[in-house]
Amino acid sequence: MSAEPTEMPLYLSLAERLADLASSGSLRPGARLPSVRALSEQHGVSISTAVQAYRTLEDRGVIEARPKSGFFVRRPRSLPPLPATTRPPPRPVTVEVKAIADAVYDLLGEPGYVSFGAAAASESLYANERVRRALARSARREVDALGRYATSLGAVELRQAISRRALNLGCELDHRDVVITNGCTESVALCLRAVTRPGDIVAIESPTYFGFLRALQALGLRAVEIPMQPRSGLSLEALEVALDTQPIKAVVAVPTVSNPIGSVMPGASKKRLAELLQRRGVPLIEDVICNELAPTEEARRAVRAFDRSGNVMLCGSFGKTLAPGLRGIGWVHAGRWSREVANLKRSLSGAGSAVVERAVAELLTHGGYDQSLRQLRRHFAEQVGAARQIIGAAFPSGTKVTDPSGGYVLWVELPKAVDAVELYRRCIEQGIIVVPGPLFTTSTRYRNALRLNAGAPWTADLEQGLRTVGLLAREIAAGR
Ligand SMILES: Cc1ncc(COP(=O)(O)O)c(C=O)c1O
Repeated sequence: MSAEPTEMPLYLSLAERLADLASSGSLRPGARLPSVRALSEQHGVSISTAVQAYRTLEDRGVIEARPKSGFFVRRPRSLPPLPATTRPPPRPVTVEVKAIADAVYDLLGEPGYVSFGAAAASESLYANERVRRALARSARREVDALGRYATSLGAVELRQAISRRALNLGCELDHRDVVITNGCTESVALCLRAVTRPGDIVAIESPTYFGFLRALQALGLRAVEIPMQPRSGLSLEALEVALDTQPIKAVVAVPTVSNPIGSVMPGASKKRLAELLQRRGVPLIEDVICNELAPTEEARRAVRAFDRSGNVMLCGSFGKTLAPGLRGIGWVHAGRWSREVANLKRSLSGAGSAVVERAVAELLTHGGYDQSLRQLRRHFAEQVGAARQIIGAAFPSGTKVTDPSGGYVLWVELPKAVDAVELYRRCIEQGIIVVPGPLFTTSTRYRNALRLNAGAPWTADLEQGLRTVGLLAREIAAGR
C-alpha cells in the first residue's frame, strides 16, 4: 500500500543531509566520515540515531564501513554491464497471459505510488500547452465536426500529416491507405487479424512488450520467441532458423527502441530483415511507436524503408511522442494488406473523433513538434543515465542493466537468487511499482529481471524509491 506522508524520522533526515553532501560532491568519494560519537555530538542526536543514519546510507550504497577504520563515502562503482543476448525456448506455445500480469496491469495507473511501472513518460516533459491550444482551436473550428457523425477511417488532414512524418522514418506512405486507430495496440491487433488465423504461429521478440502477448492470446495465436541482443535487437540468425523450422505466419517486432530492451537494429540489419521476410513471404508487423525517440536519423529509419514489396505493416501512435493523454490516437499503414485492415477497422470499431484527429494533425504539422522531440530525447537520455548510475550503486553486485538507444525504459537483470515477482511484492508493500520480467515472455524465463520506467524527471522521491528497490533486491539476494 502507498505510505501516508509522515514527518521524517530524525535518523532519516540526517541521512538525507549526508547523502546530499555526497551527491553534491561536498563529501568526496573516499572521504572519511566522522565517527558515530562525533556525528551524534555534531548534530545533537543520540548515538543510536547516528548509527541508524549511517546504516541507512550503507544500505543505499552511499557510504561503506571499513573494519576498524570507520565510515567512508563510497567510490561510485563502474556502471553495471549489459545483459547477455536472451535465450528463449525455441518452440512455439499457445499464448496465455500470466495471472500476475493482470494484477500488475491494474496497478500501473494507480496514483499514490512511486512508480517505475507503465512505460509512460511524465506529463511535465511534453508541450502540454500547445496540445491544449490545438485541441481548443480544433473544437472551435470544427463546430460542424461535433455535430456530424464521422464515417471515414480518419481525418484526411491527419492521414496526410502521418504520411509526411513517415518520411522521417524513410517511408513513403500513400495517405489514402493510412487508417486511424484507437492506438498502436489496435493497429497491431488489426494487422494480426489480417494475416493470421487462430492456432497460427507468430514470431515475437523475447522479452517482448506485454501488450503484444495480450493481442496474441485474444486471437488464439501461438508465439515463438526470438532472442534479443541488448543493443542490436532481434537475432536475425535465430529468426532465420525459426523460419526454416516452423510455419511462421507473421513477425511482430519493435526494431527501433524496443520495449523493454531499448535496442535499435542497425540499418544494415533492418535491410536484411526486410529482405529475409520478403523472400519468405512472411509479413512484418513493425511497431514504430518510439522511432522518433531514437537519437539519430539513421536509427529512426524503419525496416519498412527497405521494403519494396508491401510486406511490412507499419503501426504507430502518439502517446509517447506528443502527449501521454493522446494515447488513444494511433495509425496503421498495412502495406499489401491495406484493404483488409481498413475493412477490419470498419467492422470492429468504426470512426474516431474528427475534432481530436484534426488537432493532432495540426500538432504534427506546425512547428514545435520537432523541437519538443529534441527536448524529450535529451531528457530521457539524462533520466536513463541517472537511473543506471543508481542501479550501479544500490543494486546487488552481479546486476546487469541495458543502455537503451532512446526511450526511457530499462531492463535490469538481477542475480539468479532474486525472484522478481517476490521483489515486486516487497516493492508494493513499500509503495513502489516495478514490472517483473515474467510479464514479458510466454516462457518461464526472466524470473530475475525487471523493467523499470525512467520516464520522469529525477526527484528525491524517485531516487529514494529506486535505492529502496535495490535494497530489497539485496535482501532477497542475501536470503532475508
Ligand atoms: C512497443 C509498444 N507498442 C505499443 C504500445 C501501446 O501503444 P498505444 O498506447 O498507442 O496503444 C506500447 C505502450 O507502452 C509500447 O511500448
